[in-house]
Amino acid sequence: MSNKAAEKPAPATAEDTTRVELRARDVSFDWSATPLHWIPGDPSTTHTINVLHLLLPAGERWFVHVYKQALPLIRDESLRADVIGFIGQEAVHSRAHDDVLPRLRALGLDPTPYTAQVDWMFEKLLGDRTFPPGRARRWWLLERVALIAAIEHYTAFLGDWVLGAEALDRRGADPVMLDLLRWHGAEEVEHRSVAFDLFTHLDGDYRRRARTWAVAFGALVFLWQRGVRFFMENDPLLDDGRASVREFVRGGRQGVLPTTGAILRSIPGYLGRGYHPSKEGDLARAVAYLASSPGANGRAPDRATATDAVRTDATDTAAARTAAAPNHRKGV
Ligand SMILES: [Fe+2]
Ligand SMILES: [Fe+2]
Repeated sequence: MSNKAAEKPAPATAEDTTRVELRARDVSFDWSATPLHWIPGDPSTTHTINVLHLLLPAGERWFVHVYKQALPLIRDESLRADVIGFIGQEAVHSRAHDDVLPRLRALGLDPTPYTAQVDWMFEKLLGDRTFPPGRARRWWLLERVALIAAIEHYTAFLGDWVLGAEALDRRGADPVMLDLLRWHGAEEVEHRSVAFDLFTHLDGDYRRRARTWAVAFGALVFLWQRGVRFFMENDPLLDDGRASVREFVRGGRQGVLPTTGAILRSIPGYLGRGYHPSKEGDLARAVAYLASSPGANGRAPDRATATDAVRTDATDTAAARTAAAPNHRKGV
């Protein structure tokens, strides 16, 4: 990623209500002024969202790896172009979230013990098996393509949510972090149909769709709560940080996290026989955000906003503590 914004995406206007031509954008984010609790006074919500930085670098690298194997099987030129655009976007997403991790380390929160496990899961557990060419190898590829379709249902859900989460702005969330999340979220909405279309093109079996959804949803819930727990317990600014369901529900009520109800309502959506991702999310809003995103258009976001005004003294004091604090890392 360089400081130079890439050329503008192909025609993507508010009138395009179903699909746009997909291409990766060259983005740049400056983390040097982002505090550890980038939602002031709300470490629980900060770390719930921070779990994205733990899962996405390895997860989206894995998407790219699997899709490169699927490319030769695609018999539709339009879908092939979409998949190539998808690969480019996910590769940039992975690197952009990876770039946040050194900032967390500098602030006294080393995510390595957790990311090492996530890396193992995607590279070994979900990696290439030594199947002989033929049915077994194809089965394993189709399983992973279906898993990615299920996961993409949730990345699009989260992307659409964060684009409309004005409560984060009102709470003074760090503008660079918000821009990363919204640029990524907007591209997730932009390419929300690709994984499902690829799965349908190569297989589309309903039982596989339902089975892999259950695996993906269960794994996401497990990894997410574990990631929040890891961050809260190892946060150098918290004396006795704990993750709790109550805090998650509170975040949903306050609009700084998706509500539990919205997450549960998304389940029958994906499992419905007539499901197609193009019916989900607000593409026009996503396209509009991409046109204005500072990180995707070579500009620094304006930090001289209410963000700094509402940042609590406690956070600033705690930041000073962080610099001096030893890393009291706990296991995962
Ligand atoms: Fe992504
Ligand atoms: Fe995606």
